[in-house]
Amino acid sequence: MAARVLVLSFLALLWTPLALAGTQNLTIDDADPRFSYSPSGKWTARPGPCSGCQAEPNSSLAYDGTWHDTTFVNGQDLTPFNATVSFSGSAVYVYCIISHAQSDPDGNTDMQFMIDGEIVGSANIPPTGEATYSYNYLVYSGQFAEGQHTLTVVNGQEGGPTSLALLDYIKYTTEVELLPSSTPTASGNATGPASSAQDTQTSASLPATTSLSSHSASPAASVRSYFNSGMGTILVMIVMAGTTLL
Ligand SMILES: *[C@@H]1O[C@H](CO)[C@@H](O)[C@H](O)[C@H]1NC(C)=O
Ligand SMILES: *[C@@H]1O[C@H](CO)[C@@H](O)[C@H](O)[C@H]1NC(C)=O
Ligand SMILES: *[C@@H]1O[C@H](CO)[C@@H](O)[C@H](O)[C@H]1NC(C)=O
Ligand SMILES: *[C@@H]1O[C@H](CO)[C@@H](O)[C@H](O)[C@H]1NC(C)=O
Repeated sequence: MAARVLVLSFLALLWTPLALAGTQNLTIDDADPRFSYSPSGKWTARPGPCSGCQAEPNSSLAYDGTWHDTTFVNGQDLTPFNATVSFSGSAVYVYCIISHAQSDPDGNTDMQFMIDGEIVGSANIPPTGEATYSYNYLVYSGQFAEGQHTLTVVNGQEGGPTSLALLDYIKYTTEVELLPSSTPTASGNATGPASSAQDTQTSASLPATTSLSSHSASPAASVRSYFNSGMGTILVMIVMAGTTLL
């Protein structure tokens, strides 16, 4: 009996790092219903039709082929235009498409970022005059305590300059639990994001529109390296020893 308790405690110790796990990045596309746009009439879901939009970036270079377009016009608009999204995590990364044109469109960027109602950052990107776009442009990143947070992307400010926002997506960092049952087998295809064991495990508890960042540190990979490191072999030996003892 004592031997059994000893073996079980040792096993529990071995499994602890697996159960604690690490973090992963999840993406929320601009078209995800978790985003809300205010005032809604001032934001246009693109690449759909938009009579007032001058920015025509290449949609195949936008995340999921979509972005939200809004322009705060100096002297005409008084209240900034906002995009709001909530998530549970410890860091957030906001990505836009940036136009570098001076006119048609005026590609000036004058944004602010709020977390839980407090201004935590800003992005001021004056146009260079080139008729080009930059994609996957990180306009804000911030870290905070793990938990539920609300991000507000504020485009323009009262009395401020004209500002174009082409909001593409956000990434956020969240904790993930690695359960022993998610351990992939050696024959599994773990490299493709659509086929990894990690996807299968997390997609059940996450909204369907959430996708995994392609270059996030894969928890499935950590589990594999854990086993490749020989810990798996030691574990099997201990289980075998335990079975013999009991
Ligand atoms: C956008 O957020 C700012 C800052 O909180 C606020 O002053 C403004 O009224 C908001 N705009 C809209 C349209 O809700
Ligand atoms: C858009 O980008 C894709 C991928 O790089 C490219 O093949 C295509 O030619 C581009 N389209 C235009 C209109 O530039
Ligand atoms: C791995 O992926 C390749 C190519 O997509 C496929 O042909 C193969 O059957 C997959 N193997 C497993 C074990 O899923
Ligand atoms: C999440 O993405 C950011 C920005 O690309 C990167 O710095 C960070 O290492 C990523 N975190 C994870 C857990 O993949």
